[in-house]
Amino acid sequence: MGAALATSPLAGETAYRTIAGTEFNQITAENAMKWDATEPSQNQFSWSAADAIVNFATQNGQQVHGHTLVWHSQTPSWVQNLGADALRSAMRNHIAQVAGRYAANPAVVSWDVVNEVFDDSGNMRDSFWYQKLGDGYIADAFRAARAADPDARLCINDYNVEGVNAKSTAMYNLVKSLRAQNVPVDCVGLQSHLAIQYGFPGQVQQNMQRFADLGVEVRVTELDIRLQTPRDASKDAQQATYYTNMVNACLAVSRCSGITIWGFTDKYSWVPDTFPGQGAALIYDEGYNRKPAYTAVHDALAGGGTTPDTTPPTVPGTPAVSAVTASGATLTWAASTDNRAVTGYDVYSGTAKLGSSASSSLTLTGLSPQTAYTVHVVARDGARSPSPAPRP
Ligand code: XIL
Repeated sequence: MGAALATSPLAGETAYRTIAGTEFNQITAENAMKWDATEPSQNQFSWSAADAIVNFATQNGQQVHGHTLVWHSQTPSWVQNLGADALRSAMRNHIAQVAGRYAANPAVVSWDVVNEVFDDSGNMRDSFWYQKLGDGYIADAFRAARAADPDARLCINDYNVEGVNAKSTAMYNLVKSLRAQNVPVDCVGLQSHLAIQYGFPGQVQQNMQRFADLGVEVRVTELDIRLQTPRDASKDAQQATYYTNMVNACLAVSRCSGITIWGFTDKYSWVPDTFPGQGAALIYDEGYNRKPAYTAVHDALAGGGTTPDTTPPTVPGTPAVSAVTASGATLTWAASTDNRAVTGYDVYSGTAKLGSSASSSLTLTGLSPQTAYTVHVVARDGARSPSPAPRP
């Protein structure tokens, strides 16, 4: 389990340092290793913030994942204004200096060599890198990184590539083609900036597995699961379920090497600044108290070992019906609880399953008009043990 750390609370806050140093075994710098932090002016390197992260991790026996060498964002304008040849040289030099600085340090185990090279449809992002250098900058960057730190695992990282979709398929095809050309791509990072109101991505485990089958390692690199603030118990429960789902997907794929959470406390999260009206995306609240999401991650990790979960969820509340139309209706019920986490609900009419839901409500469609239905709801947990005695 990893966490991204921010420089100033790491320097100044005991509670932050204590949790960061004891609950995680891998650290990513949230900003301190990005180009604008490490090389603000050409060939003027600034190491203090990056070194502080590496030193903290070293003191705590933690690994460091380097983030990130080549990105279109948080890259100074002097880089963006270079012509093609000068840009290529500046990129190679930046990689040589930054990855090279930590190459002999056993704590630094991996690098995001390129970050977010695709647009949202899965085409190459039309960044200044692509405009000036074409897509060849990607292979070039990986080769430069291998030369700078031959022992580090070298990764490509992106968002909205968690499930099987057009963008993750583009990433899959790129990784496959780069490896066919002997470009040293060792790992794929699934950022995983999720939101409960958008649903859990489809086929995460299958997506991880197809990358694993290419021979690359997979990691969840920037996990946070935001919600529309304010928090409440039901949003917290759904968020916890999503955290469970992500941990379980990774546990099910042997080449999934771990999960890094993008921060750990809601006190310092990029979410409210970036997605107005949303937040509370992490596993500790703003006062460093553990949230249901913390327990979900903890228990999913424990459940991934040899201790079977024999305690089923409690029986869900009797479903209430609303929004009845000729062919549909919305059901809502009181949530179940579980010793680990409730992962979802199934709604039945007799033995026929009418639908499933990750939350404690479901809209049924395709019902027959003028027909009475009697339904019951069954809760599931991570061990897939159903709740007892379905209630009509
Ligand atoms: C974010 C940081 O969390 C913010 O503090 C910063 O202002 C902007 O960048 N994808 C990435 C990360 O790869 O580097 C981003 O981090 C979040 C999205």
